Amino acid sequence: MSEKATLQIGDKHYDLDVFTGTENEKCIDIQELRSKSGYITMDPGYGNTGSCYSSITYVDGTNGILRYRGYPIEQVAEQATFVEIAYLILYGELPQESERKVFSAALNEHAALHTNLEHHFSGFPKDAPPMAILSAMLNLVACFHPEVLEVHSEGPEFDKTAALLLSKVRTISAFAYRMATGKPFNHPNPHLSYCSNFLHMMFSEPYKEYIASPVVERAMNLFFVLHADHEQNCSTSTVRVVGSSRANLFSSVAAGVCALWGPLHGGANAGVIKMLEDIKASGRPLTYYIEKAKDKNSGFRLMGFGHRVYKNFDPRSIILKKQVHEVLHELNLDDSLLEIALELEAAILNDDYFLSRHLYPNVDFYSGILLRAIGIPLNMYTVMFAIGRMPGWISNWKELLQHDQRISRPRQIYTGYTERPFVPIEQR
Ligand code: ACO
Repeated sequence: MSEKATLQIGDKHYDLDVFTGTENEKCIDIQELRSKSGYITMDPGYGNTGSCYSSITYVDGTNGILRYRGYPIEQVAEQATFVEIAYLILYGELPQESERKVFSAALNEHAALHTNLEHHFSGFPKDAPPMAILSAMLNLVACFHPEVLEVHSEGPEFDKTAALLLSKVRTISAFAYRMATGKPFNHPNPHLSYCSNFLHMMFSEPYKEYIASPVVERAMNLFFVLHADHEQNCSTSTVRVVGSSRANLFSSVAAGVCALWGPLHGGANAGVIKMLEDIKASGRPLTYYIEKAKDKNSGFRLMGFGHRVYKNFDPRSIILKKQVHEVLHELNLDDSLLEIALELEAAILNDDYFLSRHLYPNVDFYSGILLRAIGIPLNMYTVMFAIGRMPGWISNWKELLQHDQRISRPRQIYTGYTERPFVPIEQR
């Protein structure tokens, strides 16, 4: 017999279905609660609300587990290329060599931007935030490919749209940086790997071609792999909400970029570096910042700490911390911000305020130091996150349509005025 939950309201009982996922996670299905009882459930911020069934990514926040399609993040981070992981997340299985070749060829085919699209970059002010440019340009790309405005969750049209997006997001991001620095665009080179090609578009100069060293390429790959998906976070949920109206994939992921931009989400990676630079420049002791973060009136939070789901270490931060050390060592670099970050982490792990609230370093805490080491400018950090997260956004959009999910439309409990008569302006 399938498991049931019973809800008692007054003297009435309501039987609700219980669903168990493959990792034994359980939910109570309340879809019919309102029609049966007149009650809705309330959960601002959706901390305890499941919005979908998904087979893409598994997160166990208590035990610090993250798996893409069943594969542990530690193994993936060590062995996989971002292109393989993008394929895995999109199609459910790791690619065979022949499939990887076809996928890589599609990424190469769609890497360049339409020449008319390139002209749009000159319309942005030099100091325009790259996240604003990315979001705007993703919507614009769709104008040059009217065929992808048709909504398809599988088949050749979907394959083309997914490859186009995964590839062009990298070109748009690099061009946004080149435009802001007044440098000529570097067009994609099909002979380079996904990561090297991006770094070439970012850093090659007319007088000197940029060739990524194996260490830098590996670090870039790791960054993208670790950001490839993270189930129903703020930006992915945004992509799903927008996609649920059957909006096309381009506008859905453009909305995801906007959600990611916020300092409590992807924007935190740049926030961490700004905070560490501030600590360094001010010369104040760490305790000043720690106490300020505890003071609710200060409006200040320690960037890179805390997570809605992880109530223990974020496994991505453990991998990044180790890799940051290795990459700095291999590149023969010394970053004083790493010293400050390590000291801050050690202090937090001994502080009751943070321990009692289960606030540990999240993915953003060490990722900025990795990006600094490979020469990515600070205002591009959240854009880097967006490039990495693209497979997750596309895959969640695809799954939403495959499940034919209803339009997202939460309810509310109204707390405003009850009915009152309109007052004409001369009588107010
Ligand atoms: N510094 C100080 N206090 C914090 C922090 C922090 N970084 N994070 C949470 N807290 C405190 C809150 O003030 C709250 O305290 P209270 O119980 O006394 O009121 C408690 O911890 C719980 O915090 P919430 O805001 O309820 O937790 P929530 O799950 O809503 O937020 C979030 C999670 C947004 C990540 C939060 O921890 C935060 O703002 N962190 C800093 C920004 C950051 O690093 N964001 C990146 C997250 S990872 C990602 O999105 C890719």
